[in-house]
Amino acid sequence: MSSPVLSVERLSRAFTSGRQRVSVLSGLTLSVFPGESLAVVGRSGSGKSTLLNLLCGLQVPDEGRITVMGESFDGIDNNDIDARWAELRRRSIGVVFQEANLMPALSLVDNVRLRANLAGRGAGGERGWLERLGVGAEADRYPDQVSGGQAQRAALAMVFAMSPALILADEPTGSLDRQTADEVADCLFAMQRDTGCALVLATHDTGLASRCDHLLDLSASTARGTG
Ligand SMILES: Nc1ncnc2c1ncn2[C@@H]1O[C@H](COP(=O)(O)OP(=O)(O)O)[C@@H](O)[C@H]1O
Ligand SMILES: [Mg+2]
Repeated sequence: MSSPVLSVERLSRAFTSGRQRVSVLSGLTLSVFPGESLAVVGRSGSGKSTLLNLLCGLQVPDEGRITVMGESFDGIDNNDIDARWAELRRRSIGVVFQEANLMPALSLVDNVRLRANLAGRGAGGERGWLERLGVGAEADRYPDQVSGGQAQRAALAMVFAMSPALILADEPTGSLDRQTADEVADCLFAMQRDTGCALVLATHDTGLASRCDHLLDLSASTARGTG
C-alpha cells in the first residue's frame, strides 16, 4: 500500500468572535492517498476554507499535525516552517480558488509557463496543458479577454502543469453557471484521474461532492462555542 499524500491528525482550529472562542475544526483526522479525491462539504461558515488554508500552510493550526508527502513540521523552528510550506506550495501543492487567480498582464500560455517554471518543470508543455483543458485556442489571449469558465480552465492548466502531488480546490466552480461548472468539473476529474494526483475539493454543491471518492461533512461538527 502506498503512503498517503496528505495526513491530518487531531487537527483543531478556533477563532475569537467577540468575547467567545468559537471552535471551527476540532480533533479532525483524515488521510488522502495518491489518486484519491476527498470532498469537504458543509454549509457556509462550517470551516471548509479554513481546513484548506491549514492544509497548505496559509493558516496555523491550534493543535494537531499535518503531514504532506511525508513531511511534517514537528520540532522545526517556526521561522523555518513558513519557508517549508512555501516550498511545498511552489512544487507539490496546486491550489485552485473560486476565482481564477491569473496574472492579468500575462497571456494564458505565459501564466501556465510561469507556474510550471516556478515548480521547476521543464518548458514546452504549456500549450498542451491548455489544449487538454479545452482552451488551446485561447492560449495567446489575456485573462480579461476570456470568459470565467475559460479562465478557470486556464487556472487548472496552471496547476496540472506543475505536476502537483496534491490539489486543493476551494469552490472551484462556485462562480460559474451550472453547465460551465459541470464542464470545468469534468476536466478537473478527468485530469486528476490521468495524472494520479490527490484532490481535496471544498464545495457546497452536493452533485460535485458525490463525484469524489470520499466525503467529509463539516456541518455536523462545527461552530461550537468553547467559552
Ligand atoms: N480570520 C478569521 N477570523 C475570525 N473568524 C474566522 C476567520 N476565518 C474564518 N473565520 C470563521 O470561521 C468559520 C469558518 O469559516 P470558513 O472556513 O470560511 O467557512 P466555509 O469556507 O465553510 O464557508 C466562520 O464562522 C468564519 O466566520
Ligand atoms: Mg469557503
